[in-house]
Amino acid sequence: MVAKIGAMRIDVVTIFPEYLDPLRHALLGRAIERGILSVGVHDLRSWTHDVHKAVDDTPFGGGPGMVMKPEVWGPALDDVAALAGPAGQDALLESASPHVRGGLRAGKETTVDAAPVEDPDTRPVLIVPTPAGRPFTQDMAQRWSQEERLVFACGRYEGIDQRVFTDAQQRYRVEEVSLGDYVLIGGEVAVLVIAEAVVRLIPGVLGNRASHQEDSFQDGLLEGPSYTKPRVWRDLEVPEVLTSGNHAKVARWRRDQSLHRTLSVRPGLVEDAADAGLLDKADRRTLAALEGSDAWSDPATVPEK
Ligand code: ADE
Repeated sequence: MVAKIGAMRIDVVTIFPEYLDPLRHALLGRAIERGILSVGVHDLRSWTHDVHKAVDDTPFGGGPGMVMKPEVWGPALDDVAALAGPAGQDALLESASPHVRGGLRAGKETTVDAAPVEDPDTRPVLIVPTPAGRPFTQDMAQRWSQEERLVFACGRYEGIDQRVFTDAQQRYRVEEVSLGDYVLIGGEVAVLVIAEAVVRLIPGVLGNRASHQEDSFQDGLLEGPSYTKPRVWRDLEVPEVLTSGNHAKVARWRRDQSLHRTLSVRPGLVEDAADAGLLDKADRRTLAALEGSDAWSDPATVPEK
């Protein structure tokens, strides 16, 4: 089946709209220009009704910090789902600087092979960055890159009243996700990270489609080292195999480097890859040989003088 390249719309609700300005730059800016991506950034305070435009209040049960109010977040998420009210009037982000002449909107449509869509659930995905969420993974980025709409809710302070997300399930598939075991001041930076990881996987966004097929995590392992010209730089020589022209040998070497690095810095990933049946006989042979070997380090060599 041939389908039109998926265009994605991302909406972000935040009290700091300018924080999302980096979404207009580089790869994402180019995707916006080409009509592959559109981004709406919405100021949560547009949904307040008091003179102070208050978005938070003290927590029930006591304790430090403030909790973001359901009466503000609820209508904001309702409107963003329907692209109505203030959410329907907010301008879309424009690319920061022109990258391409003419966009896909005006030009011919690009097509890719696509699998038939099986999931009938058309509710947009609502992504809530929070240190209390499930860890964000490449797998999630891959799944979300196939969505037509993603909505991000940026919390600040001690988070957002939990009832907002219970209620939002009527209109959204809600996903609470964490970037890692540390606490940021709010969700905005997490949105930039997640959006970049997702958008680069949309077909047509990266120039060279193969380049993300070799990403770290794409096959459960970390990517090995990369080198470019010159062959010798500050007395450090590129590993010889890479200049041998033997493609099979290069592929094996890269795979071995990937196994060595992963075993050294993220051993749990190697176990997961083995459990998922992602390692073949040659991989197991490499791993057995690496048992008890030194920690992975850049294999570039200093030439003998
Ligand atoms: N907001 C605050 N800390 C966060 C984290 N670690 N991941 C995602 N969102 C957050």
